Amino acid sequence: MTTTLPSGRQFGPEFLWGSATASYQIEGAAHEDGRLPSIWDTFSRTPGKVLNGDTGDVAVDHYHRVEEDVAIMKKLGLQAYRFSVAWPRVQPTGSGEFNKLGLDFYVDLVDQLVAAGIKPVATLYHWDLPQTLEDEGGWANRETAYRFADYARKVAETLGDKVFLWTTLNEPWCSAFLGYASGVHAPGVTDDEAALKAVHHLNLGHGLAARAIKDVLGEETPVSITLNTHVTRAASDAPQDVEAKRRIDTIANEVFLRPVVEGVYPPEVFADTAHITDWSFVQDGDLELIAVPLAVLGVNYYSTGRVQHGTPAVGNGEPGPDGHKSSAHTPFVGADDVEFLAQPGPHTAMGWNIEPLGLTELLLDLSRRYPELPLAITENGSAFYDTVTEDGRVHDAERTAYLHDHVEAVGQAMDAGADVRGYFVWSLLDNFEWAYGYDRRFGIVHVDYDTLVRTPKDSARWYAELIRTRTIAP
Ligand code: NOJ
Repeated sequence: MTTTLPSGRQFGPEFLWGSATASYQIEGAAHEDGRLPSIWDTFSRTPGKVLNGDTGDVAVDHYHRVEEDVAIMKKLGLQAYRFSVAWPRVQPTGSGEFNKLGLDFYVDLVDQLVAAGIKPVATLYHWDLPQTLEDEGGWANRETAYRFADYARKVAETLGDKVFLWTTLNEPWCSAFLGYASGVHAPGVTDDEAALKAVHHLNLGHGLAARAIKDVLGEETPVSITLNTHVTRAASDAPQDVEAKRRIDTIANEVFLRPVVEGVYPPEVFADTAHITDWSFVQDGDLELIAVPLAVLGVNYYSTGRVQHGTPAVGNGEPGPDGHKSSAHTPFVGADDVEFLAQPGPHTAMGWNIEPLGLTELLLDLSRRYPELPLAITENGSAFYDTVTEDGRVHDAERTAYLHDHVEAVGQAMDAGADVRGYFVWSLLDNFEWAYGYDRRFGIVHVDYDTLVRTPKDSARWYAELIRTRTIAP
């Protein structure tokens, strides 16, 4: 294992250590107990969309293995577990009737977590939109935001104050731009205006859902959103390259951060996208609804990007230099003259460069901009091609080194003043990695996809030791 940053740092007793998963990626049981299809069931069945034609039908069968999985978490000493609720499980068509069996599944999960002393962190939307809502326009349709708030209200009523922290949306950038612009994620639409409508309706859905949770459980109920705020650097100081970075920051970060935290859209986005839309779908009063006070901002961090003025690379489905599966359409709407450059290595199996100091930079930047807003790393981790060796173990030294250096990078940001409250490894278990199917393994626990046997990797042992000692071991 090659670490690049020092070891030995200690974290305080209030810092929360956890791990994260998402419903479609782990649950399986796609047709059980009243669940109806989500956009990912449809998309994964569409030939050519997911590597090897993989689907989440079985995934890692978490739906039937909650007890075993919570026992693994307990053994690792996790203090918190970030999971997502499958909307099509608890409200199969996305409006009207709720499904008691679906809700019961999450009641039981939360009860088991609480009994094990693990804090439940619930995400309401991690990309599995009920297909019926997509048939009515999905996130490009304003109505979806109201449906999302109704669903959030019901889940809040059902799980109540056993949930330690609520998260409305996970990475709305992916939902909007990979889902509706580049089309490499469900629902696979390639329509730039639809993507911008989706941005706004996701933001609105976030605000309405946050309000609904607070209405049900009280104003002090901690609510958050998780963003994959991109860390992008300009290739040079040339004004055109600096402008390229500004465009990416605007369309990837500011269109979510500013409305959610400040109640405004960055004015530049209207000019950047004027050739696509006039944004008349933003109605009076929407921004006030969106800017519900957050208890914490969730940050997902994996790698960095580098841009220059040029022509966007359009691709062949392999990971592009921006770190996402490429397509014939760029997800960076309104940035038609921005080119992503390949980043120097090392890289993970996703082709993403490993650059822990980008995380320090991001946390410091956010905390300088919003000093009153605590931060949590709600995802950080890496995919490698792991195998179980003859000794029955998985020696994932590269993942351990990755985690080691990123946890150290968090500590460095905290030393420099960032208010960071917790860290969640992505992911607890190997799982369905969206367009890459089961080909890329992010888990600290290995899953054999034939037998579904779980084997904690060396990185899980290292992480357990970090949690136990609160000290970064070499
Ligand atoms: C972010 C997403 O939230 C998660 O679902 C995904 O598996 C990881 N990134 C890794 O790509």
